[in-house]
Amino acid sequence: MASKVGTLVRYSLPRYLASFRVFVNLFDAEGRERYSAFFGANVPDSVLCEPGTDLRVLGIGSGSGDIDSAILKKLLQRHNSVYNRVVEPSEEMIGRYKTLVREDRSLGAVKCDWRQQTAEEYFQTKGDTKFHLVHGIHVLYTVEDMHATLRNMWEQVADGGYMMVAMESDKSDLGKLYHKMWGEFGKGDRLKTPFRTSGDVRQWFDASGVSYVTAEFGYNIDVTECFKEESEAGQLVLEFFTYTPFVSKEPEIRSTALEHIRSKSSMVDGKIWFELADEIMVAFKMDPGRSDPV
Ligand SMILES: C[S@@+](CC[C@H](N)C(=O)[O-])C[C@H]1O[C@@H](n2cnc3c(N)ncnc32)[C@H](O)[C@@H]1O
Repeated sequence: MASKVGTLVRYSLPRYLASFRVFVNLFDAEGRERYSAFFGANVPDSVLCEPGTDLRVLGIGSGSGDIDSAILKKLLQRHNSVYNRVVEPSEEMIGRYKTLVREDRSLGAVKCDWRQQTAEEYFQTKGDTKFHLVHGIHVLYTVEDMHATLRNMWEQVADGGYMMVAMESDKSDLGKLYHKMWGEFGKGDRLKTPFRTSGDVRQWFDASGVSYVTAEFGYNIDVTECFKEESEAGQLVLEFFTYTPFVSKEPEIRSTALEHIRSKSSMVDGKIWFELADEIMVAFKMDPGRSDPV
């Protein structure tokens, strides 16, 4: 029988999103704030638009907009209004994003253009609009073809604009778990699976001759629940880490993942803490008529 490792999103997008939500809930309020602030801080000050026009932003896989809103707030410090095109396949996520925009008055100058679509659907009919900032935050694991998506995103960046991509760092213990999962249970081309990390995106930038800067944000989360077989939340987090639906029914995958997590974790006050790290890559598209970014 073929291994179920890596098939979570194909099996069910709602189940993947449920596992993602449980994962996000592992952050406390302060951790969440520090995490969003990292994204705001990495939006270049020099994102510019033509005088008299809205700044145009394209978000791919924006989810419920938590990170998008940090990015938008940073842009609103220097721009009066933003046109924000949101590409997100989940109706539920878009619903949450709409609520967030409605309730947060500091986002009043953002005009959202909602596209309930996958990146693949969107890029078939994208049109000619170019964007001053195109971003994909933790979405490139689940698009069909990571390289095609990066190419399509880059094409939508206006001259003098930026592309921002965030992925799990290949150097983090979760990034290493992805590689281990594929090494032990996968078959064929890893890039055709969700086990993609920041190193894969850097390689694409390098091969495409795109210049970029990177920054890392490391943090620890409490994964104690993952070790409790009866904990539904713990099993969902493990599904999120292994991209494996019903991982508790896959003893080999579960025990290999738990062994890796335990060997890399630290124990503090009876809790098991696992290290993750985001790598954010920001690429600048040279405008032939302008000099380097400031
Ligand atoms: C891990 S979540 C990240 C959400 C958000 N960017 C964040 O960082 O909070 C991944 C998001 O990508 C969306 N997604 C999954 N497959 C996609 C695809 N093929 N094209 C576009 N978005 C997709 C999911 O619905 C989900 O909202």
